[in-house]
Amino acid sequence: MAEAPAPHAGPNRIRIAVRASGVTAGETYLRSGRLRDIVPTEFPFVTGVDAAGVVDEIGDGVTGVSLGDEVFGVSATFGGTNADHAVLEAWAPKPAEWSWAEAGGASGNVETSTRVLDRLGTRPGQTVLIHGAAGGVGTVAIQLAVARGATVIGTASAHNHDFLRSLGATPTTYGPGLVDRVRELAPAGVDGVFDCAGGALPDLITIAGDAARVVTIADFEAAAHGVHMSHGAPAGEVDQGGEGGEGGEGGEGGATIGAADPPALHGLAIAAELAGQGRLRIPVAATFPLEAAAEAHTLVETRHARGKIVLLN
Ligand SMILES: NC(=O)c1ccc[n+]([C@@H]2O[C@H](COP(=O)([O-])OP(=O)(O)OC[C@H]3O[C@@H](n4cnc5c(N)ncnc54)[C@H](OP(=O)(O)O)[C@@H]3O)[C@@H](O)[C@H]2O)c1
Repeated sequence: MAEAPAPHAGPNRIRIAVRASGVTAGETYLRSGRLRDIVPTEFPFVTGVDAAGVVDEIGDGVTGVSLGDEVFGVSATFGGTNADHAVLEAWAPKPAEWSWAEAGGASGNVETSTRVLDRLGTRPGQTVLIHGAAGGVGTVAIQLAVARGATVIGTASAHNHDFLRSLGATPTTYGPGLVDRVRELAPAGVDGVFDCAGGALPDLITIAGDAARVVTIADFEAAAHGVHMSHGAPAGEVDQGGEGGEGGEGGEGGATIGAADPPALHGLAIAAELAGQGRLRIPVAATFPLEAAAEAHTLVETRHARGKIVLLN
């Protein structure tokens, strides 16, 4: 914990008094320096991409929101929400159906899931495999894919299978034999694979039948397998063409990742609407007070949290 100057809302942005903010694997990668070649950081750097809170500053050009409104959204700077105040680039009204913890942990996983499902072209009648489905991203991705009318198969440890069913997915375990297990569940094949876990691309490509039908957010070896790695970007580094295979930047261990996909910020309003209809909840694995952020990072690093880890102010 440290003191830092309060941020202020610039044009087209708002500032919130943060009530809750998310902690993800991404925060631990930033903290450790693992992403130093991909996400440039200047110190002091405040982690945190998603948050919910009460609007307390409104930048020039912003309409449709008032001081005192309760919102959830994503930060403007690829960080900054694990704090007392945060500047948001995109937001939506906090659904009454969500607690502050749910709202604070929602937006990053909603944006990521929407970005990947858009890229996969997930639509009614399709079957989608979500690999690593019990985590923060996977639990949201399941529900958004179901809301699109898709049939969802999700991988998780056996003790999480009832949990996946409760979200609308047919569960199976990951690890050896995955290809056969998925074939049994989807004899006609799957239309898209959303990899939230990494480490299984050869099997996932076999399941999809084509590397182009696999999108990963977690496997830095994606380019070597001809698979698209979807990731967000610091401002100005978005590949507007959306095809991110070439011109990779240095990643971990010399691996490369392509340019970023445009952020799927339209997902926030869709999520708020689904929440209002009772069709999207944000499973919260654990909450910690902001002062205990280090404990939250330790839990994220186990890679077995069920849903999202959230800091409460
Ligand atoms: N590129 C992007 O835009 C972007 C955005 C967000 C996140 N990410 C990355 O995506 C990954 C997932 O993020 P998250 O927040 O969902 O993580 P998370 O909440 O920490 O994910 C935990 C889940 O991963 C599952 N898991 C652990 N090892 C696995 C394995 N070998 N195979 C399959 N599943 C496994 C666990 O399942 P069980 O407990 O059931 O075993 C657990 O439910 C992270 O690597 C993160 O850095 C990337």
